[in-house]
Amino acid sequence: MTYIGTATSRVDGHAKVTGAALYAAEAKASDLAHGSVVVSTIAKGRIARIDVSDALRVDGVIDVLTHTNRPRMADADSGYKDDVAPDGSPFRPLYDDRILFDGQPVALVVADDPETAQFAASLVRVDYDKEPHVTDMQRRRDAASALKATAEPGANPFAPPKPRGNAETALAAAAVRHQGEYSVPIEHHNPIELYASTVMYEPDGHLTVYDKTQGVQNVQRYLCGVLELAPDRVRVLSPYTGGAFGSGLRPQYQAVLAALAALALRRSVRVVLTRQQMYGLGYRPAMIQRIELGAGADGTLGAIAHDAVTVTSRYERFYRQETGWSGLLYQCPNATYAHELAPLDLPTSCDMRAPSAATGVYALECAMDELAVALSLDPLDLRLRCYSDRDQIADRPYSSKNLRECYRRGAEAFGWDKRNPKPRSMRDGSELVGWGMATGVWEAMQAPIAVRIALTANGHAEVSCATSDIGTGTYTIMAQVTADMLGLPLDNITVKLGDSTLPQSPVEGGSWIAASVANGIATTSDSIRRELLDLAKQVPNSPLADLAPDDAGLADGKIVSHKNPAHAVSIADAMRYGGVGRIEHEQATHFSKDESHSHNTHSAVFAEVKVDEELGIIRVTRVVNAVAAGRILNTKTASSQILGGVVWGIGMALHEETLLDHTFGRFMNSNIAEYHVPVNADIHDVEVIFVEEPDDHLNRLGIKGLGEIGIVGVAAAIANAVYHATGRRVRDLPITLDKVLP
Ligand code: MOS
Repeated sequence: MTYIGTATSRVDGHAKVTGAALYAAEAKASDLAHGSVVVSTIAKGRIARIDVSDALRVDGVIDVLTHTNRPRMADADSGYKDDVAPDGSPFRPLYDDRILFDGQPVALVVADDPETAQFAASLVRVDYDKEPHVTDMQRRRDAASALKATAEPGANPFAPPKPRGNAETALAAAAVRHQGEYSVPIEHHNPIELYASTVMYEPDGHLTVYDKTQGVQNVQRYLCGVLELAPDRVRVLSPYTGGAFGSGLRPQYQAVLAALAALALRRSVRVVLTRQQMYGLGYRPAMIQRIELGAGADGTLGAIAHDAVTVTSRYERFYRQETGWSGLLYQCPNATYAHELAPLDLPTSCDMRAPSAATGVYALECAMDELAVALSLDPLDLRLRCYSDRDQIADRPYSSKNLRECYRRGAEAFGWDKRNPKPRSMRDGSELVGWGMATGVWEAMQAPIAVRIALTANGHAEVSCATSDIGTGTYTIMAQVTADMLGLPLDNITVKLGDSTLPQSPVEGGSWIAASVANGIATTSDSIRRELLDLAKQVPNSPLADLAPDDAGLADGKIVSHKNPAHAVSIADAMRYGGVGRIEHEQATHFSKDESHSHNTHSAVFAEVKVDEELGIIRVTRVVNAVAAGRILNTKTASSQILGGVVWGIGMALHEETLLDHTFGRFMNSNIAEYHVPVNADIHDVEVIFVEEPDDHLNRLGIKGLGEIGIVGVAAAIANAVYHATGRRVRDLPITLDKVLP
């Protein structure tokens, strides 16, 4: 293979850096009107009255849409259920007078230009009948109104795992115990690209929607459901996405608002959310996790009890499985898990990069570090003593698990063996130096997908699939895999994605698209290859005449015999003799359910922090992240994914936190000045290592997918390093300087 496994630069890089790549808020449309959203200023209650008269008097204002004058929308919840909606009753934008959270859209002002719309939006007056709200997780938890996150076993993959053995007895008998409570605050997605939709009202009444999303077909179905439109009336495109990582898995409300306005006005409408309004979308749920570990004096785990309380809205039960990760990582015969939800008067929480693992493994890996201290063991040594070659939850081996090699290579690159175990023992001038480590784990998932390939006689191929590229490099890996499967140069491949009319794709998330689409390309390429072989056999004196369908491959623009590489016919000749100008195939790929193995990716993260002893300022000066994630399709984009995950992990450890004013039930720091994310000055030396991990069970190309694994373990490694530097154990993120000062 020529391109798979190489450091191929992004095929869409040029379009992106030159601005040729147009995002949802830039799609070219004529006669475009602009919508500005008015949001609620209470967290719960009803709209008593909306006065839009001042807004309507502004020159250039076309209309103001509210729940009182909007076009018809579906009445049943089913109309609002998108492909990845959790249980519950989905939020309906502009549907009625009910207010479910602060920052909820209550009106859309449409004007000839965005500035006029925004100004007029400030003139809309809303009177409310307020009702008492609760936005404080601790209050909800204390009131014992939390819901158990225990869907029917098997029915919901996110239900906590079943217990093993008897954790209570084993904990009581353990030689060494550690118990701790770890908390993660609400974190908000802050992608550079604002959520936006440009809805073009076509002359025949069709809607062409340019949307920022991770799933064009999800948005297409959703809009048809909400607006009760026939499927062929709506087409959704998202050729480029400026970062999403969970926030774009579910359709966002600006798409509905823009579509409602387009239908009402029979005109194209664009709605771009402000940064502040984006805090009214989903967020990583705040959570409190309690972990109890019991170990023998030899450092083998006897028992784990892990429970979590996570935040959701009052109207939907969003949760992921925070608590079961230890069952994948560590040998431990006794375990219990529990998970409760704290429903608050907030928007529904949502997925954010490695949802549940980023947070659940944070708690687990800090607890393991504390256990290592209690046992006077090196933290890495403790992990190795507890290493598990089996998934104890599903009770089966892994299709592959090269975590040992991650530990070894990561430790070596980091210089872990030079660590003095004593806290506060390492220094660099006025700074305390701390070294910490943690493990990461994520899932290797794949989902049914369809891919179309059209090959023309000049040796060019167009590969298409409705998947998104959320910035991870999907365009590039699709081009690489197609080039290798068809034996063509990379430059001869055109990739089309992000269009709901293209072959079926799931939403791009969970790190499952690379494996899914690459194997989808391989399936469709087989059909192309077989047809080419049939044509090649008809060439006069064909050296391939006797070959069986799978005895030939494609390489260097030729159909080549596997038995004798000298026997070959060029693709151009085969198509010319056959009188065929274009070969096109579309095929769906289904992945057989491998119940005999578990499929996961793993990592070992090593972090160095330097903490100013007097000021408490923490710098993450070095991170080594060693990853085992099956076959790496592109070492350049893959490294970038892991690097980005490390940066996000640094944010999680030290910076990110959405703060609520419970009096108003409102997010207070809804901007990127006060919601802190790492900037260049916060990022120092980050090294990414990929270890070899052949995997024959998962899929024919041995691809596991990666991206999310990059963040998992990072916050724990940093928290553990901060402990090592300062002797201070901070269990509630983010670790701000006030928490480490004496
Ligand atoms: Mo995934 S939570 O869409 O990064």
